[in-house]
Amino acid sequence: MGQRFLKVAAVYFTIGVLMGLVMGIMQDFRLTSVHAHINLLGWVSMALFGLVYHFYPRAGNTKLAKTQFWLHNIGVPVMQGGLAVEIITGNMALMPVVIGGSLLVILGVILFMFNVFAHVGTLNIGKSDRDVAS
Ligand code: HEM
Repeated sequence: MGQRFLKVAAVYFTIGVLMGLVMGIMQDFRLTSVHAHINLLGWVSMALFGLVYHFYPRAGNTKLAKTQFWLHNIGVPVMQGGLAVEIITGNMALMPVVIGGSLLVILGVILFMFNVFAHVGTLNIGKSDRDVAS
């Protein structure tokens, strides 16, 4: 799952910095918290998941990692999309959606923690996923 997480992280990084640029140009900082979370949950966290899963393929090549990938990648857009709509419209009706998205992310983080404890051992720098997975 390392490559997948890194590719999605790069997309979030692009969206996050463009959002920051637009916020600065428009002098409209209502979506600052969305920008911050796109950058931190989208770019920083996913890049770190990607690097951990790349360097520890025993953790990356598991069903736990795949499940966590989908929990995170459904949770983040649902949570941040809902939050952005709430902030722009001033209507808090989407709160259950935002909470639901957040819970998916948190569940994924808990799976990541179990995966790290169960499968992260000796660092395998220089070896490919294929070398180590067998
Ligand atoms: C070219 C890239 C970026 C631009 C143009 C940009 C722009 C901005 C702007 C205009 C704000 C609002 C500041 C305010 O409320 O006065 C902001 C806040 C913030 N940004 Fe960025 N940003 C960029 C990249 C990043 C990255 C890469 C991260 C994290 C990895 C990040 C994390 C944050 C955080 C946490 C805040 C909230 C700070 C606070 O509330 O005090 N930003 N950014």
